[in-house]
Amino acid sequence: MIPIDPAARANVHLVDHPLVQHKLTLMRKKEASTNSFRRLLNELSSLMAYEVSRDMALQDVVIETPLETMTGKMIDGKKLVFVSILRAGNGILDGVLSVVPGARVGHIGLYRDPNTLQAVEYYFKMPKDMEERDIVVVDPMLATGNSAAAAVTRLKECKPKSIKFLCLLTCPEGINAMFNAHPDVPIYTAAIDRELNSHGYILPGLGDAGDRIFGTQ
Ligand code: URA
Repeated sequence: MIPIDPAARANVHLVDHPLVQHKLTLMRKKEASTNSFRRLLNELSSLMAYEVSRDMALQDVVIETPLETMTGKMIDGKKLVFVSILRAGNGILDGVLSVVPGARVGHIGLYRDPNTLQAVEYYFKMPKDMEERDIVVVDPMLATGNSAAAAVTRLKECKPKSIKFLCLLTCPEGINAMFNAHPDVPIYTAAIDRELNSHGYILPGLGDAGDRIFGTQ
């Protein structure tokens, strides 16, 4: 078990709402079916979306109520982009989009070259005008942090206004790695687990998130 760098820990928003913790525990259970795992992930992702969008900018909008004119506040969902790291990140999209339906969606696919161990991009599709947008990168598991950091490095080439990272679970290794590569990117997570095992799985964790979402075990 390695310690978390205190500066890195300060960059982590731990979403400890009871509903989030309850659903996460149900997801961790090995007997959870694909169906219930996916449903819980959906529900949890929408709860996490509330936290990650907490500081979204609001615009004044003049509207008519049945009684008079007033100035209300509205967010411009179109300025937000959820970027899914394929494939497990796709499991988070429905939930976050149910909260911010106007948001755009990008996808990034990376694999690890077995010889160089470097992340290699195989897919990258983003909306236009990324310089005007705030990005939330989504991936259920921030484990080694290698693919997450590589994805953020690539996204920074698009010069977005801001980048946040949203996951369900992480561990000291993932937090430290992300902070070393991108100290400007806050992490939103429902739990910080104990450690990574030698195969890169989070312990106690929930297993392979992609397999559990898509039923490919
Ligand atoms: N990816 C997963 O799906 N699970 C882990 O525990 C680590 C990375």
